[in-house]
Amino acid sequence: MTSLALTINGRAHGPVEVRDELTMNDFLREHLGMTGTKFGCGAAQCLSCAVIVDNPDGTSHTNPTCIAPAVAFNGKSIRTVEGHAKGGELTALQKSFVEHFAFQCGYCTPGFLNEGQVLLEQLAKKKVARAELEKTITEALDGHLCRCTGYVKYHEAVRNVILADPTRYLI
Ligand code: FES
Ligand code: FES
Repeated sequence: MTSLALTINGRAHGPVEVRDELTMNDFLREHLGMTGTKFGCGAAQCLSCAVIVDNPDGTSHTNPTCIAPAVAFNGKSIRTVEGHAKGGELTALQKSFVEHFAFQCGYCTPGFLNEGQVLLEQLAKKKVARAELEKTITEALDGHLCRCTGYVKYHEAVRNVILADPTRYLI
């Protein structure tokens, strides 16, 4: 057993004693009841289980949770799909997902949403040329698998948010 304390969606959790082999996915879903983070392949191959990790230096990245031990997140600050909307108000990216019918079963959606959000935040800090935008989105979403094949819609939904605010995201 190891002590685990972390911040999830801005709220402190723990310290709590957890089994060393407990995965972060099981910690979120089974211990905290945060079932927005999905469990797909269980082999770090589909990224439906990915959450956002916010680093102390202000950068963020996504990380799968299905095979990662919960204790590996000790001291970290993460965001899950439950943390995006504020006061019942969807983010621009969430609205765009809905408007573009980006998801069907929705199982892959939390991972795509987290990845898209990280991309938007990165572009807000370091803008990209319009000519590079399609490649940038493709590369950002690469690795996220959707069995309902919603790839184009997800891509369009992310692109729409960026094009709606070009001075913020584009050179
Ligand atoms: S469930 Fe974690 S990558 Fe597929
Ligand atoms: S919407 Fe069903 S797996 Fe992507």
